[in-house]
Amino acid sequence: MSKVTIGGVTGPGGAGKTSLTVNLGALLAHDGVRTLLIDADLYFPDMAFHLGIKSPYTISTYLKNPRVDLEWLIHRYRLHGLYAVIGDTEASPDPDAPYSKIPGLLEMLRHFYGAILVDFPPGLPVAAHKVVDMLDFQILVIDPSNVPLVDTEGHVEATIRKFREMGCPNFGVVINRPFLPQDRLEDLISFIEDTLEVPLYGIIPFDPAIFEETSSGIVSPEVAFEPLRGLAGLIEDRFL
Ligand SMILES: Nc1ncnc2c1ncn2[C@@H]1O[C@H](COP(=O)(O)OP(=O)(O)OP(=O)(O)O)[C@@H](O)[C@H]1O
Ligand SMILES: [Mg+2]
Repeated sequence: MSKVTIGGVTGPGGAGKTSLTVNLGALLAHDGVRTLLIDADLYFPDMAFHLGIKSPYTISTYLKNPRVDLEWLIHRYRLHGLYAVIGDTEASPDPDAPYSKIPGLLEMLRHFYGAILVDFPPGLPVAAHKVVDMLDFQILVIDPSNVPLVDTEGHVEATIRKFREMGCPNFGVVINRPFLPQDRLEDLISFIEDTLEVPLYGIIPFDPAIFEETSSGIVSPEVAFEPLRGLAGLIEDRFL
């Protein structure tokens, strides 16, 4: 049995999925966990932008030719121990087909890493269920100031129901940029923890350094994700 842990990150568009994926990856790598990030947002992938990586070798290269040399596919990030398979916008004519091939990629790569973090598109396509089957944990990121539906609780409830139906064994919620009055925030936390009985993995305040990090394409564990410390610790204690 290899000791890899595979985590998935999903949430509404713009909630902070990719920021969370790359910064959590940076923290894990900083702690000595050899970590691979995979951009599995096959619709609007943006991990390459967050990491400042420019390369023609992307997940599509693998999906078109699963025998591709992994040396080309896996980009070594400037931070020691952090690696990435970036996405691109070459959408397949059959949107389900790529997701059926990603488990093969995970199966091949799981032996080489301590942690693999998969950045999913908003809404977690049903076709991705074979990938979800391979996850040890799943993170829902919400940005209550920016949920496309006004009903944040309803959105969280629907997504958690979907996680449960998809059979993911462990999941939790991260609240990003909680621009809410204190009592509304407390209600939301209580809804997540008490009503839905789902752990709250963390709350990330608005931090301009996170935005600057994204626009410069430089991710560092020192920058801004101190709020993810607890989540990184939980992953290391529980799954590694
Ligand atoms: N806590 C935060 N403080 C400040 N800026 C943030 C924070 N979280 C995310 N951002 C910024 O918000 C933007 C959207 O974040 P991000 O790209 O991570 O979202 P996403 O959910 O991956 O979006 P998409 O659905 O388009 O893939 C980025 O510019 C990022 O730098
Ligand atoms: Mg993204």
